[in-house]
Amino acid sequence: MQQPELKQSKSDMMDKIVSLCKRRGFIFQSSEIYGGLAATWDYGPFGAELKRNLKEAWWRSNVYERDDIDGLDCAILMRPETWMASGHVSNFEDTLVDCKSCKKRFKIEQITGKKCPECGGELTEPRQFNMMLKTHLGPIEDAASLTYLRPETAQGIFVNFKNVVDSMRRKVPFGVAQIGKSFRNEVTTKSFTFRSREFEQMEIEFFVKPGTDEEWYSRWVDERFNWYVKFGLKAENLRIRQHEKKELAHYAKACTDIEYQFPFGWSELEGIANRADFDLRQHSRLSGKEIDYFDDITNERYVPYVIEPSGGIDRSILAFLFDAYREEKVKDEKRVVLGLHKGLAPLKAAVLPLLRNRPDIVELAHKITDDLKGDLKVRYDDTASIGRLYRRQDEVGTPYCVTVDVDSLADNKVTIRDRDTMKQDRIDVSRVREYLTENLKR
Ligand code: GAP
Repeated sequence: MQQPELKQSKSDMMDKIVSLCKRRGFIFQSSEIYGGLAATWDYGPFGAELKRNLKEAWWRSNVYERDDIDGLDCAILMRPETWMASGHVSNFEDTLVDCKSCKKRFKIEQITGKKCPECGGELTEPRQFNMMLKTHLGPIEDAASLTYLRPETAQGIFVNFKNVVDSMRRKVPFGVAQIGKSFRNEVTTKSFTFRSREFEQMEIEFFVKPGTDEEWYSRWVDERFNWYVKFGLKAENLRIRQHEKKELAHYAKACTDIEYQFPFGWSELEGIANRADFDLRQHSRLSGKEIDYFDDITNERYVPYVIEPSGGIDRSILAFLFDAYREEKVKDEKRVVLGLHKGLAPLKAAVLPLLRNRPDIVELAHKITDDLKGDLKVRYDDTASIGRLYRRQDEVGTPYCVTVDVDSLADNKVTIRDRDTMKQDRIDVSRVREYLTENLKR
């Protein structure tokens, strides 16, 4: 049974997660030793594992467990025409104003009166600011060599629509999934990793016959909401919010956000958009290539509509961390637990010798670790007392601790402790792998 949970204040939660991420090797500020680079982050050893597990879970659910989606891995750099066709060159903009006194920069939506919200100073006239990051390819930096770091992974999928249909013999409806880095020169960059300048997206472009798009759109909203719940987010911390007409991106016919209740308020975790035929038609127009689909059963030729579930890896990680974090009171002491879904947890088990000065116990613990290593991400640790070792593993979300004690040498059994219930099972050494594999599936 789980212990009674201690109540957290929302304002404390942000500090607690930021501190845990740094202290326990989940997320570090990028270029920290030089003072840090704003809105860019490095994933530490446990963060990197969590991120891999999250991507793997998404890929498994969408590519392996369905038969109507293929994966793709496109280049970050694309021809600049891509971003003209997609509308990012002309539409991917924020309207900004600067304060003439304190020099702070604000999005126009952040301003309520005519004065600077920070110092009351005079503001400049609003001006447009394109959020794409620019770079030059080749040795000469001129207009001809200008290109962009992609602001979304989606366009790589659209420009490859024909390639996928032809090489995979795909029939509409089908989808293409992609995970990869995207870049945006964000102006507001508070709230930890929530709005980063370099981040990862997990996107699906699902191609459907026009007229069936609304049905697919609502199916995908349900599908994606349930996916977050399946991997551990509490349903009461999630909600669905339909965009009003005036909020819609330039390409969208409709859009629904899945929002998470972050400590700083309800905010977008993933957007599911009905992009209609905007992108395929635009790429066809600018490239001069025909991009359409021929249905050889009905003899119809049409440009498919697209339903796009588009989520962020970094934002999801943040939500999973907030949702999993809990403090409990156990025998008058505070226990911090990261109750992550077992599939997402960075380590699956830790192997701990009860006495680190007993070579025979240490040897058996190392042997168990070595036996498990190939299949499961496990770690041997003998750097503190057993109580502290348990607490450390609880704090990084390790589902199981395998403890080797004096009796293990005689009966060849170890104790396996469950992170959430703290219940302990005594298991034969030969059954440890089977026990963990079975229980990690639950
Ligand atoms: N292709 C559609 C698209 O890119 P978006 O709503 O701009 O739509 C999709 O982005 C998702 O990508 C968001 O729901 C969010 O999870 C993530 N995302 C967008 N900008 C981000 C940023 N600056 N930092 C972290 N994640 C971001």
